[in-house]
Amino acid sequence: MRKKIVAGNWKMNMTSDEATNLVNALKADLGNFREVEVVVCPPFTVLGVVSDLVHGTHIDLGAQNMHWEKSGAYTGEISAGMLRELYCHYVILGHSERRQYFGETDEIVNRKTRAALAASLHPIVCVGETLAEREAGQVDAVITRQVKGALAGLSAKELLDSVIAYEPVWAIGTGKTASSEQAQEVHALIRKLLAEMYDETVAGGVRIQYGGSVKPGNAKELFGMPDIDGGLIGGAALDAKSFIDIVRAAV
Ligand code: PGA
Repeated sequence: MRKKIVAGNWKMNMTSDEATNLVNALKADLGNFREVEVVVCPPFTVLGVVSDLVHGTHIDLGAQNMHWEKSGAYTGEISAGMLRELYCHYVILGHSERRQYFGETDEIVNRKTRAALAASLHPIVCVGETLAEREAGQVDAVITRQVKGALAGLSAKELLDSVIAYEPVWAIGTGKTASSEQAQEVHALIRKLLAEMYDETVAGGVRIQYGGSVKPGNAKELFGMPDIDGGLIGGAALDAKSFIDIVRAAV
């Protein structure tokens, strides 16, 4: 059985006071919650603060990006080892905003994914088509290219240590969610692809999250689909009650 995983992607939001308030509210409700894996992914500047706050609870810590090298002359970048030092266990990689605004290619996402795994971080690898690609009937081709590109060279064990997030770009921050059937269709495609790249057993063990305008009102239906193993939550993760309701919808 795949344990559902719900992660909050805070993006470029939250001062340390705001983060403290949010995490304290999450802790009060979810601190001992074991049925679903709960992860918060704050911006780098408050990772340390949040790390201290979630220590000893069942809330896990993730980052939103990292560099593939261990150290060196990469001004403005953060390495996997630096994240590990703050007790980060997850890192979101290849988010569509990174691909769109910061030029991340499948090859870069693959380098980062391999570097994360080498440092014992669990990558949350994001894939998803744009509206234009969907309208042009390219969903299968785009998802296949992104999945194969991002996961190239991973062993079965490394794949099982990873999480995949399907996030249709047209559904991110737009209030437009993919219908549960639309999402399920792509999740099933990803799992089929993994079965071809590895085998059925491995593919059956990998968690695939859905992301894109997940809200308390649509979470239950999405998470009820056979191949949807939780969610990557943006806007609704900034509000304690919404995020808690979404986490509880995954039970
Ligand atoms: P959203 O963002 O929930 O605000 O649509 C999801 C994401 O970008 O991970």
